[in-house]
Amino acid sequence: MIIRRSAVVATGSYLPERRITNQELADRLDTSDAWIRERTGIMQRHVAAEGETTSDLACHAARRALARGGLGVADIDCIVVATATPDYTFPATATQVQAMLGMTHGFALDVHAVCTGFVYGLAVADNFIRLGQANRVLLVGAETFSRILDWDDRSTCVLFGDGAGAVVLEPATGDCGVLSTHLHSDGRYRDMLHVDGGPSTTRHVGHLKMNGREVFRHATRKLTEVVEEALLANEIEASAVDWLVPHQANRRIIDATARKLGLASDRVIVTIDRHANTSAASIPLALAEATADGRISPGDLVLIEAMGGGFTWGAALIRWSATSRRGASATGEAAR
Ligand code: ACO
Repeated sequence: MIIRRSAVVATGSYLPERRITNQELADRLDTSDAWIRERTGIMQRHVAAEGETTSDLACHAARRALARGGLGVADIDCIVVATATPDYTFPATATQVQAMLGMTHGFALDVHAVCTGFVYGLAVADNFIRLGQANRVLLVGAETFSRILDWDDRSTCVLFGDGAGAVVLEPATGDCGVLSTHLHSDGRYRDMLHVDGGPSTTRHVGHLKMNGREVFRHATRKLTEVVEEALLANEIEASAVDWLVPHQANRRIIDATARKLGLASDRVIVTIDRHANTSAASIPLALAEATADGRISPGDLVLIEAMGGGFTWGAALIRWSATSRRGASATGEAAR
């Protein structure tokens, strides 16, 4: 069996056209732009159009990643979609994406770890490549959280947005690639962050429910722990990290993690102000933006981390590949 490392060689992203500002929410809810900005750092969020599905968003992001990598579907042999908002109970959103891309070979599967979905998906994709079960994986984080929000609940509906981000992974050359992934979950915390519906319980989709204060408290502690675990496993000092690309749930959680690492704010990729919390899509959206604009460059050490419903949480360290911006300058397009 061949053991090899995987590397991110292309990124792409997609955000729906429709933007909702804090003020628009404040016009119909008992909230304010000031409250949302101060407590979360969010200024606006994108929301999918009527009829626009998670697989639509995923496909847009996937096509952009493939174009940037100079790749076609024939070059991909596995699709992993991280989502908590699938198109249907089944089939998997990943197989929908496979069909929409016109891919009839290989295999496709969904990974469900809510906001930690992209980190879990990265571990799955990396392990497929390490073991030789896949050669090139299209990994997409895509969500339409707007469909599971109670738009009359000010404590949750102001926090989330829709979007998708995609990366392509292939066997790494040299010392680049995914150095390690670190995954955790603890199902005892279900009630603190969950959706009160599902096919085998209520048979309705349900709405997101969250004890924000408790999630915040757990997030700051668990994220620090898992980031320390990732650094220790690689015998790397926090000062060696070039970029922290955190899950974008709350600006205060992001700042607290960066502060504990001793990372200056200009070393942290932040999109929460424009995207809000897009769950499994937030990290690949941020990666696509920071590679397209040239902040993340070959050889950089990138630390990603996330925490979400379950609870699930995790982190990964990635040495950015020399081929990671392949095709980006040719299209010249910035992530919207
Ligand atoms: N506008 C105005 N006031 C509000 C709003 C709002 N949109 N939402 C809540 N409030 C009020 C509350 O009712 C409360 O009022 P009270 O004191 O009279 O009872 C007050 O504001 C303070 O509420 P808290 O919940 O204590 O506010 P907090 O400072 O904790 O901020 C927030 C809330 C932003 C939700 C924060 O707790 C948070 O970000 N938590 C973490 C969320 C997170 O990380 N989620 C990640 C995982 S998401 C996933 O996996 C799907």
